[in-house]
Formats: sequence, C-alpha cells, structure tokens
Amino acid sequence: MANSSIDKQKNIAKHIAIIMDGNGRWAISNSLNISKGHSKGVEIVREIVEESVKQNISSLTLYAFSSENWSRPKPEIDAIKKLVVKAINEQVSDLKKQKVKLKFFGEIEDFGSKILSKIDEAEASTSQYEPVLNLNVALGYGGRQDIVNLTKKISSKVKDGQITLEQIDEKMISEFSSSPVKDIDLLIRTGGDRRISNFLLYQIAYTEISFVNKYWPDFTKEDFVECIDNFKTVSRRFGKRI
Ligand code: IPE
Ligand code: IPE
Ligand code: MG
Repeated sequence: MANSSIDKQKNIAKHIAIIMDGNGRWAISNSLNISKGHSKGVEIVREIVEESVKQNISSLTLYAFSSENWSRPKPEIDAIKKLVVKAINEQVSDLKKQKVKLKFFGEIEDFGSKILSKIDEAEASTSQYEPVLNLNVALGYGGRQDIVNLTKKISSKVKDGQITLEQIDEKMISEFSSSPVKDIDLLIRTGGDRRISNFLLYQIAYTEISFVNKYWPDFTKEDFVECIDNFKTVSRRFGKRI
C-alpha cells in the first residue's frame, strides 16, 4: 500500500493534449446551428486554459482543425475561420495576463494571409515573457501529413549532404515534426469516440489516453481535473519490467 501511494505521487501530467470533439452533436442536440457548437467550444477552451495554469501544466496542445476537416461544408469552415480570429481578439489579452505562450502548428498557410498575420501577431505578443504554460493549437494539422513533411525535410538535407543517414534518429524526427511538444503524457478525447483521428501520431507512442463521454461544449474543469487525477494512478512502464 505504501508503495502505491508513492507511485501516485510520481505521475504528474506535464504535457496534455486534447481532441476537442463533439461540437456538432452538441449543437444538434440543443437545436442550434453547428457554428454555435464551435463558438461554445471556444468558450470552454478559455476555462481549460485557466485550469491548466492552476494545475501547473507545462503544455496544453489542442486539436482545433484537422487536415481532413477541410472536407466539411464551406459555411462550417467559414464559421471556424471567423472563430479563430474572434478567439484571438477576445482571449489573447487574458493569455498575456496569465503568461501563457500561444503557438499554432499544422498547415496554417491554408487558412489564408489574413488569419496568418493575426496568428503571427498573437504569437509574437505572447512570447515576451517566460511562459507559465505553452498553449499549442493544431490548425490544419494531420499526423500523417506531418510525418510526410518531416520526411521530405530530412531527405532533402541528406540529399544536400548537410546530414548523413546515420544521424537520423528519434530525436531528429521529433525536431523536424511541426509539433511543439515531443512527448504527450496525457491525451483526452471528448465526444465519446475512441480514436485518434490523425492527431499527434509520433508523439503519442507512450501516452495515456482518456476518452470522455461528453461533448466538448459540456466538458468542465472538474472533468479535466478528473482526467489529470486518474493519470496520477496509472503505472507507466514504457516496456520495462517494473
Ligand atoms: C470538433 O467537433 C471540432 C472540429 C472538428 C472542428 P465536431 O464538429 O467534430 O463535432 P461532432 O463530432 O460532429 O459532434
Ligand atoms: C477530430 O475530430 C478533429 C478535431 C477535434 C479538430 P473529427 O470529428 O474530425 O474526427 P472524426 O471524423 O470523428 O474521426
Ligand atoms: Mg467530430
């Protein structure tokens, strides 16, 4: 018994990622337009960021829009684009107050120059201090596309003679990935489905996964803390005999 309580002390989730799923179903179940589900979802992000700061988490990485989400109806995509700008306008000042550093990653160029410059501005204005929390937002991100892109980058360096084949290792793959975080400790997916949907494939090799049976707009900071607390009790073996 004494040992198990010591083990519980050890597991602190420093790097958390969230697949924020269920906005559409939440909107439908509340007889609302899908875009209302997404805007409610953005409000929840604010609450979870505040709780992440309280919980001393190093990084929170959020899946906001996948490569495959480009196949959604145009009005929904337009609403999401507007929401990205709205969220930056409304939340960046609070991020600054809390010393949160904002970083977007993925194929962001596809969102157009207006959103890109908004993102650049937000990133620059939240990078003026030693951050208490790194908030990373995956936008136009796909884990497979990320692996394809990093393979091309590394291959071209080999081709140019800047690196040798022997120098390619796990660390290099992590560094060439667009993901700002190398290893995720805890991944949470809301919405009830138990899948990864092309999120951080390389970075979740030894991640603990919490599937939550609630739509993202109904997810609360108490649910978040419950996931963090459950993580503390897990025995992470990383393949070893312990
Ligand atoms: C997640 O919610 C947000 C995005 C993918 C942009 P969904 O819009 O996928 O919600 P459901 O899964 O349809 O309910
Ligand atoms: C994953 O949700 C992507 C985001 C939350 C941004 P999806 O709704 O796109 O995933 P699937 O289609 O259910 O796998
Ligand atoms: Mg979904």
